[in-house]
Order: sequence, then structure tokens, then C-alpha cells
Amino acid sequence: MVSEMPDKDAIGAEMMAKLDALAAHSETTDGLTRRFASAEHRAVSELILGWMDDAGMATHMDAIGNCVGRYEGSEPGLAALIMGSHQDSVRKGGRYDGMLGIITPLACVAALNERGERLPFAIEVLAFGDEEGVRFQSSLLGSNAIAGTFDFEALDRVDEDGITMADAIRDFGLDLEAIPALARKPEDVLAFVEVHIEQGPVLEAEGLALGVVTAISGGDRLEATITGMAGHAGTVPMGQRQDALTATAECILAVEAYAGGGDHMVGTVGMIEAQPGAVNVIPGCVTFSVDLRSPDDAVRHGLVDGLCREFAVICDRRGVTLEIVNPHEGKAAACAPWLIEQISAAVAGEGITPRLLPSGAGHDAMALEAITDIGMLFVRCEGGISHNPAEAITAADAGTAARALLRFIRAFQPAKAAP
Ligand code: GLV
Ligand code: MN
Ligand code: MN
Repeated sequence: MVSEMPDKDAIGAEMMAKLDALAAHSETTDGLTRRFASAEHRAVSELILGWMDDAGMATHMDAIGNCVGRYEGSEPGLAALIMGSHQDSVRKGGRYDGMLGIITPLACVAALNERGERLPFAIEVLAFGDEEGVRFQSSLLGSNAIAGTFDFEALDRVDEDGITMADAIRDFGLDLEAIPALARKPEDVLAFVEVHIEQGPVLEAEGLALGVVTAISGGDRLEATITGMAGHAGTVPMGQRQDALTATAECILAVEAYAGGGDHMVGTVGMIEAQPGAVNVIPGCVTFSVDLRSPDDAVRHGLVDGLCREFAVICDRRGVTLEIVNPHEGKAAACAPWLIEQISAAVAGEGITPRLLPSGAGHDAMALEAITDIGMLFVRCEGGISHNPAEAITAADAGTAARALLRFIRAFQPAKAAP
């Protein structure tokens, strides 16, 4: 007889082995890089689909490159509790961001399947092809398609090699025309629950393996272009330059000053490119990204407006021109109180005091909120480090997360009646 609750260490070790196998598929060796619709995306998808199949799920890759696994309930076709997270990574990131949220529900379904347990609802595990948006600077591609909010205008965006998103999707063997049909009907979905590493230091500092998320901060990803005049680094007097890079430097300091103003706001310039990019040429044109976040959408809108005005003042004063576009806005998303309650009960079942905390990072759950209630379970990570190759969790915490999620699944009481 297979025991009702898996052993924490055994299930944790199995999960870590899978996470390590997935991490072997990276475009870089000094940190994990896995972009949407890449050969590495293909390789991890094959592993994930195989494991979903082993866990007794019906599987397929959908038209935007998500892996979908479905474990039917006590009868076929019931509304589903959906769980999952993303397969892609940032550039030179870690192995747990995203993948832990795929491997944990997979472990739970495998445990149910091993005992032949069927529940009064279906379970789906979704492994989204893109959340980070690294390749096309347009994030949540997979989860937006499922939520029916896919931005078809983004198909013209190009990656660093000049390949459009539309071509990348086609070259990956996917069918663009089929993306609209991926949108789920709200009545087919009972809830979306995402497991994720905390990516911050709170749980570790408090000695807790798990935490329960209350809300996800909203964010903007601005793209700014400052155009001045390229010129000779040796001949143009300092007072007569239109240096796009010194103007950018002032704008970056403005981001730091504005975003540091409190209210849990944060602002980051993570990408910058100066043209023409030579040691003896005054930079004529600079493009840079600005990532701005806040748990309060009104505060974030105020921050964006204020910064855009400040950038304009700086550029006017320096005689350079400014263009700003905002291709990505993710609204703040609150987790549903009824899911917070049920996830908290499952965490308490593992002997852990439920610690409620907000998420400063963005997650696929933000997109799913358009069609269903969302909940999130956080797992402690070492030093709060993430988006960094040093990202680390313990096998014991992974096992504890799987046990808590299994408790949650078995006790799950949907807030709305299935049709
Ligand atoms: C995703 O990891 C994000 O918060 O940018
Ligand atoms: Mn991430
Ligand atoms: Mn993530």
C-alpha cells in the first residue's frame, strides 16, 4: 500500500533531481539562460511532457509552446484546478525560478496517480513557455494566451537577431492561428495556484520553509531612447556636446531617487545600449529599459508619470531628444482570500505557521487572474537570492512544499460550483 503522504526527503530528492536535469538545458554555462522558443525550451518541454505522462496525465504542447498536462477527476471533463509556472529563465539566472512551480504540482499528481486517487475536479499542470519576456521584451506570453489576453501586436517584436516573434513561433513548429483558441473559459477553471521560490529574504530570516502570498506587485517595463549627436571625443568641447549617455546617466539616477521614495516602490535600469559604441566617439543614441513596480497601481502610475516628466526636463536641459514606449504593463493582482485560507491551512498541516507576504516579483498568476481566482505558495530560498546563478533551495523545503500542496489539493473546496 502506497502511503498517503510522501516522505519529505524522498520526494524532495526526486524533485531536485528533475530540477537539475532541466537546468542542464541552458544557452549559457555561467548561469541559466533559456529563452522562449529556443532549442533549450524544446529540450525541457520534452522532459516535462514525459514526466507528465509518467504521472498519468494526458499531455500536449499548445500553440504558444506551453506544456499542458491534465489529470482527470472522478469523471472526465470536470472543471480544473490549474497549477503551474514558467519554463523560461532570465539571462544567467537560477534553476528554481519558474521550474519549481511546475515540478511541485507534478510531484503531487504523481503521488495521487500512484494511489489511484481521483478527486471531484480535474487537475491541470501548465508549464508556460514564456514568463520572463527576455527574448522579445514582452512577458507572460504563455499565461496571457491561456487567459485570452495575448497581445497579437507583439508578434512583430524582434529579438536580438532580428527574428520576429511570429517567425520564432512558426519556426518552433507552432500554429499562430490557433493561439486565440487557447483562451480558457472561466467556468472551466476553478482556480490557479502557483508555487514559486520567494526570491526575497523574509522566510529565511523568520526560519520558515513556506509562505502564503497575499498579492503580486504590478509593474511597467518602459523602453527609453535618448538621441543626441555623435561626435569626436577629442575635439568637441565639454560644454558643446549633446551626449546621449550622460543624459541617460542622469535619468538613471532619477529612477533611483524617485523609486526610493517609499510605498514599496522599486525601479531598475537593467539594460542599456549606447551607439555607436566606440571609446573615442561621444554617444549619439542610447536605449535603456526601466522596470518600475509597486503593489499599488495608482502609486505606480504616479511614479511612471513623474519619471517621464523628469526625464523630459533632463533631456531638454541637455539638448537631446527623448522617446519612451511602455510595451508591458502588468497590473497588481490580489490573491483570493478563500485560496489564501486554504493554502494557509495546508501550510499549517505541515507544522509551519502560515506567514502571509506580498510578492514584489511578477508571476504567471497575474495573467491568470483575468479568468480565475489566484493563490500562491512561496518556498524559502537561500539568502533571498534570485535572478542569479546562486539561486538555491534545499531538497527538504522542496519536499515540504510538495506535501503542503498535496494537502491543499486533497482538501480543495472550490469557491464556485462546477458547471
Ligand atoms: C519576473 O521574474 C519578474 O518579476 O520580472
Ligand atoms: Mn523570474
Ligand atoms: Mn518566476
